[in-house]
Amino acid sequence: MRGTGKVGAIEIATLAHAALLAAIHRAAFPPAEAWSRDVITLQLSLPTTFGLFISSGGLILGRIAADESEVLTLAVDPARRRLGLGSALLRGAMDRAASLGATSMFLEVAVTNHAALAVYAAHGFIDAGRRRQYYSDGTDALVLRSTLPSVPRPGLPPGRAGP
Ligand SMILES: CC(C)(COP(=O)(O)OP(=O)(O)OC[C@H]1O[C@@H](n2cnc3c(N)ncnc32)[C@H](O)[C@@H]1OP(=O)(O)O)[C@@H](O)C(=O)NCCC(=O)NCCS
Repeated sequence: MRGTGKVGAIEIATLAHAALLAAIHRAAFPPAEAWSRDVITLQLSLPTTFGLFISSGGLILGRIAADESEVLTLAVDPARRRLGLGSALLRGAMDRAASLGATSMFLEVAVTNHAALAVYAAHGFIDAGRRRQYYSDGTDALVLRSTLPSVPRPGLPPGRAGP
């Protein structure tokens, strides 16, 4: 856990936090896209997955596969947006993935999601592909990629999230 000034502390998610994370996800996404407690529990149970959260209303889940990592979801409560939580969580996930040996991070984002695209661009993510009609409403997804530092930066302690 580390302090991040005004956004609050970033904490490593464990199974004990699944209900809180589901509540944050529910607040951030439309009902059809919200991840339930069971889904988050399943994700956090996987040895390759890690989660970070800010208890006042933000979370990020990521996955590591060899030297590649992926953002599974990033969510900030609407009441807590534009305060830097999303940026802090993304930076935390990039640090954590790098500390676990990943040298790159990928994600998918709707071409229409201007808020997320702005956050990702600010953290060095660039276009790596496009998935046509990826989402159920027919919207395309952009695949974005960022290079992670090969030398772990000071940040969150090593070790995967989990119970
Ligand atoms: C995307 C999301 C996580 C951003 O979280 P956030 O905490 O509001 O982001 P930050 O406060 O760190 O924003 C950092 C910068 O990104 C840009 N940004 C963020 N939201 C923006 C918006 N709605 N419009 C334009 N730029 C935006 C701004 O440059 C902002 O800096 P500023 O506030 O100083 O101008 C949040 O909007 C969210 O949860 N959206 C719904 C879920 C989602 O789409 N997740 C991503 C799926 S890929």
